[in-house]
Amino acid sequence: MNLSLPTQIQFEITDKCNLKCPHCFNYSTCSYGMDESKDLDFYEMDTIAKIIVENKIYSVVLTGGEPLTKPDLLFRLLSYFIKNDVTVSINTNLLLLDQPIIDKLKTVVTGGILVSCPSSDPKTYNKMTGGGNYSVFKRKLKLLVDSGLFFSVNMVVNKNNINQIKTTARALQEIGIKSFGATPMGLVTGNSQYEDVLDKAEIISLVNDLLWLKQELSLNVDIFTSLPKCSFPEEIHGKKIGFLARSCQAGKSSTTVSNIGDIRPCSHSSEVYGNLLVESFKNIYAKMEDWRALKNVPDECLECKVLNKCFGGCRVAAVAAFGDCKSKDVWMGKPFVDDPFFQDQGDMKNVNINSDAVIAISGKFRFRKEEQQLYLIFNENKSTTPVNEELFEFLEYLNGKGNIKVEDLADDISIDIKDENFNRILQVLLHKKIIAMYPSQ
Ligand SMILES: C[S@@+](CC[C@H](N)C(=O)[O-])C[C@H]1O[C@@H](n2cnc3c(N)ncnc32)[C@H](O)[C@@H]1O
Ligand code: SF4
Ligand code: SF4
Repeated sequence: MNLSLPTQIQFEITDKCNLKCPHCFNYSTCSYGMDESKDLDFYEMDTIAKIIVENKIYSVVLTGGEPLTKPDLLFRLLSYFIKNDVTVSINTNLLLLDQPIIDKLKTVVTGGILVSCPSSDPKTYNKMTGGGNYSVFKRKLKLLVDSGLFFSVNMVVNKNNINQIKTTARALQEIGIKSFGATPMGLVTGNSQYEDVLDKAEIISLVNDLLWLKQELSLNVDIFTSLPKCSFPEEIHGKKIGFLARSCQAGKSSTTVSNIGDIRPCSHSSEVYGNLLVESFKNIYAKMEDWRALKNVPDECLECKVLNKCFGGCRVAAVAAFGDCKSKDVWMGKPFVDDPFFQDQGDMKNVNINSDAVIAISGKFRFRKEEQQLYLIFNENKSTTPVNEELFEFLEYLNGKGNIKVEDLADDISIDIKDENFNRILQVLLHKKIIAMYPSQ
């Protein structure tokens, strides 16, 4: 489906940071480094937040730099987004966290927190954060665990810490984490760490470590980036593992807004397509058409049967490694002649829809009208579902009803309660978390 605008924004609210991780992609995307001097003032930040809300982008990640270096700005934006029904989450290295910040976060974060931690080994932590103290991190993590806030840990992995995935996850689990991601360090132009990038065998080892952590320690595991599908070990193709489903959304459903309002296809990319303070979001997004039309995809990928689930791996890394955006991803294997990957639609649980059960729209009814009579419904779980006009009208009607018994609904719209299509649609809406169902009271 052709979108008129992204559905999710990474908002780099500041360049200021308390750490200096040598792998950080911000070293290259912001030519002036971790310096806040170019940050916009509150008034200009408010303008950007307003543009995001007015354009009906309902999912925002506040990132940086380090958002906790500017708590006043962070909470100002968080409150504004929450007031406008935007699901908002934060990326943070956690070192500046304290109890007053936690108390405030509890009232305003709806989409969770992504905490970066490259290692539980103090020396490696210090090296990979450019001076960070692991004991301080541990204390802050405990505070976060005790708060009950929803969060995941993200370990960026390169050759310095590839052998520490299991030990780090285990140490953090002892503090109380439940979700852990290991993300291969992405290559960006200007990054001085080419020699530390994982090779193909190490990518497979990372995936196997994550599967072990899931199996043996019952951790929720993830990779917070998309890898070329052909880089995954063959034995897991077709399994229902979250990270297998990720695909590059740069310039498609996601874009990045920088601390000065510049729009880039993703946080790794340094390519600026326009500035939100001087040009409309729609115009800027339209200029990213190449990212959606797959013009940058390597020729070898065009024959691949999973191209529409993969999009050819990371184009930014391809430029950084080989100087050409049509080059192969650094971890690319061989194109697929069949599609072995799992199809989500087939895995829908068959829920029993009783006539006296009560259904309602889950949370707020958030939608955006797109072209060709299509509507995007923003689901509770941060995903979006396109629906046609007929289904949209049904959802609008349901929203107007609040809670309604299934039998009353069928009666209202003059449909047999046993009608197969009616039941199928309710099943799909439940599966997508667009509606919720409660037993009758
Ligand atoms: C740029 S940081 C900004 C937020 C915050 N300062 C932090 O470290 O979480 C956002 C996320 O990007 C990750 N990251 C930084 N450089 C990366 C790279 N070269 N490849 C992949 N992920 C990276 C960080 O680990 C973090 O989870
Ligand atoms: S803490 Fe985050 S923003 Fe700061 S240098 Fe590290 S990865 Fe980059
Ligand atoms: S050949 Fe290209 S499109 Fe196919 S899985 Fe590999 S990177 Fe993705």
